[in-house]
This record gives sequence, structure tokens and C-alpha cells, in this order.
Amino acid sequence: MPVDILVGTQWGDEGKGKLIDVLTRDVDMVVRFQGGNNAGHTVEIGTEKYVLHLVPSGIFRPGVSCIIGNGLVVDPVGLMQEMQALAARGLDISTIELSNKAHLIFAYHQAADALEEAALGENHKIGTTKRGIGPAYADKAGRTGIRGAQLQNLANLETLFRGQAEKYNRLFREAGATTLDIDAEWAKVREAAIYLAPFVRDTVVSVNRSIKAGKKILCEGAQGALLDIDHGTYPFVTSSNTTTGGACTGAGIAPKHVGTVWGVMKAYTTRVGEGPFPTELLDATGDELRNAGGEFGATTGRPRRCGWFDAVASSYSCMINGVDKLAITKLDVLDGLEELKICTSYEIDGTVTADMPVAADMLARVKPRYESMPGWKESTTEARSWDDLPENARKYLDRMAELVEAEVAIISVGPKREQTFWR
Ligand code: GDP
Ligand code: IMO
Ligand code: MG
Repeated sequence: MPVDILVGTQWGDEGKGKLIDVLTRDVDMVVRFQGGNNAGHTVEIGTEKYVLHLVPSGIFRPGVSCIIGNGLVVDPVGLMQEMQALAARGLDISTIELSNKAHLIFAYHQAADALEEAALGENHKIGTTKRGIGPAYADKAGRTGIRGAQLQNLANLETLFRGQAEKYNRLFREAGATTLDIDAEWAKVREAAIYLAPFVRDTVVSVNRSIKAGKKILCEGAQGALLDIDHGTYPFVTSSNTTTGGACTGAGIAPKHVGTVWGVMKAYTTRVGEGPFPTELLDATGDELRNAGGEFGATTGRPRRCGWFDAVASSYSCMINGVDKLAITKLDVLDGLEELKICTSYEIDGTVTADMPVAADMLARVKPRYESMPGWKESTTEARSWDDLPENARKYLDRMAELVEAEVAIISVGPKREQTFWR
């Protein structure tokens, strides 16, 4: 099969960027299919560390086509800056293609995002990245969005941008909020449009031509299944389909071309932003995981909430995604812990279930029920094969896989490329 899909199986930040970089060794094209620069995908190569927001994590392998697909919402100014920064570090960015159908994010979307969060207030806010993701997807669904193709037509783009910006300014005025300086914002958009215009393509054609030519394609998910607009912990979700179905619509790939579905899964659980998180640890163990795992947002720098591995949530997510192979990351972060816990069922209002509740308020009420496993003392960061792992680590991984009904294919024991091995 020409197309594999890699998705996050939890609430994002599972290590997708690292895994895409590793798997890109054997592919010709990497395609982002949803989300925007709310994503922060970290890749560490040698002494260099990169955090990508819109550019696919295949960019470090020479000659690999990097597609920003139709399903994304793209901040043109942010993308220009990201591409310029990568080029300044010596990377070849000529392989990047931006879809003519991707929707554009402008300053008015970001301002609206911040305003909506403020209106919800501390107790009800979503804890978004404030990158304008929700408002941009709302414009797309509302059929008032502006798409990538317009970057190649400055006159049209200016008319559309000014029209929308004025509409948003009226809303901001009514809300008593600061309005945008439309001329100043247009100047930034214009510069980005001129920079990005040569990269705009019909990426659906590029992708399908590659499929026909027998090339190997890897789709790079952003966020995680539990942040999916349909299947996640609504309303504490992002505004796109982060699950495998999103790859077909967000890249223009027919399902019949899809082969392996990779699920990236942290050996524990993290979440950034608001919303229910049954296995969250608000104690010293939670702090320990945060410190050992460097759990601070790659996009916003916010501390990530940390907790035990949640097999109820993760097996639900593997089901929705049809995960075949697991890449389990950050095993090393658990090194030295005396006891490890895995949540295997929830108690909701006196009833025990292994099914994921639909409603966020219900999920917020669940009591996680745990099974306990012994930890290991040894460091796993130098492990390079299954047999190098301590016996208890192998048992822990096997139990995770058994609970989510998928196969452990890759284990990651550190942020670097070489800290990865196949089972
Ligand atoms: P993504 O959004 O899924 O690409 O993940 P992020 O880049 O936001 O967060 C993952 C973080 O963990 C990054 O800082 C990675 O460098 C780091 N990382 C990835 N895999 C491992 C691992 O196996 N062990 C450790 N200790 N860190 C890892
Ligand atoms: P990667 O691809 C973790 C979270 C935000 C917030 C919710 C909605 O790096 O895994 P949004 O700005 O999308 O409207 O915010 O989604 N969120 C992420 N959490 N990793 C991400 O991306 C995220 N992208 C968005 O924190 O809770
Ligand atoms: Mg991230």
C-alpha cells in the first residue's frame, strides 16, 4: 500500500514529530492533513533541535516532498517565518508544497480566538493555543474562508482580506475589544503572500500522482485522537479531525490506498489546555513525570498536565483510528519509578465500565480504576533493542499493547533519532 498514516493516540505531544522523522527514512513524501500551527512537533538530530509547526517533519531527509495539505488552516505569516528560519539553518525548503485549498489564518482569527476564550472565562475556557484555529475552521465551514490559491492573486487576496477584516472589526467593536489595524495587517499578509506564492500547488494532484508512480507516502497527524472534533472530549478539543479519516479528506487520498496506521503513544499520558483527564496526577509523581519528560508545550511553553497511562482512553482511540502498529515513546521517562499504574476501567456514578464516555462532564466525574505493575531501576536511554530493555519494561509495554489491541512495533527511549528501535 502506498500510504501510511501516523496519528497521536492521546491528547497530543506523543512524539509524532520524532517518529515521522525516523519513518521518513523509507518514504518519498510526508503530508500534513489537518490542524495548523497549534501543533509543535519536535525533532532532535545530533545537537540540533527543531520545533515544527506547519512544515512536515519529513523536511530533514533530503529530497522528500513535504506537503501542507488541503485540510490545514495555515497562518501565512507564521509559515513564512518558519520556512525562513529552516532555510537559515541550511535546510532545503524547495520540497515544500502548500495546498491551494488550505484555508488561511489571519490576525482577526487569532484575535477572535483570544476573545472567545476570554468570554468563556477561567472556569469554562478551552485553553486553546490562541493561534486562531477554531475561528479559521469556523470560517471554512461558514464558507467565508480565504484559501491558499488566493496567495497567488494579490489583488483578489487584498479585497477578500479587507472585507473579512472589516467584518471582524465590527464584531470586535461591538464586544468592546480592540480592533485591528487593517492596513498594518495587510502589509504583513502581502509580504507573506509574495513569499509563499511559488509554493502553492494543487497538492491533491501531487499526492495522487505520487501514488500512481508507486512512491511511498506518510501522512503526519497533528494533535491527538482525544482532541478530535468528533471523537474527542468535546468541547475541549481542537477544531479538526485528528484521526485517520482526517487524512483521507485532509490530503485528498482515497481510503483504498491506505496501508499501515501508526499510533504514537506515550508510555504515560499528558494533556495541555483544559478538559477532563481521568488519570491526571496532581501530586509529586505528576511533577516527577513533568520534569523527567520535559513536559512543557512545544508551541506555547505551558506546563503539560501529566498522569498514568489510560488504557480506556487509548484503546478507544486505537479503535477509532484502526491502529495497526504502536510506536511507544518516552519509556525512559518511567525509569526509576518503583510502581507503575495503568488505568483499565472507569467508575462512573457507581458503575464500572471500560467504555469511553461521550460527554466531557461525565468523563470529568469518572474515577479511574488501576492495575499496578512493578517499575525498573535501570536506565533505558541506551537500549537499542527489545532484549536490551529491563524485563519489567518489556512486560509493561506488552501490557499496554494487549489492552489497546495493537502491536508494539517501535520503542522510543529518548528524543534523538538513534534512541529508537524496532521490536
Ligand atoms: P509531538 O507534538 O507529538 O510531535 O510531540 P512534541 O514534540 O510536542 O513533544 C514530545 C517531546 O518529547 C519533545 O520534546 C521530544 O523531543 C521528546 N521526545 C520524543 N520522544 C521521546 C522519548 O522517547 N523520550 C524522551 N525523553 N523524550 C522524547
Ligand atoms: P501537537 O501536534 C497538544 C490543544 C490545546 C487546547 C485544544 C484546542 O503538537 O500534538 P486549539 O488551539 O487547537 O484550538 O486548542 O487543543 N492542542 C494541543 N495539545 N498538542 C497539540 O499539537 C495541540 N494542538 C492543540 O492545548 O487544549
Ligand atoms: Mg507537540
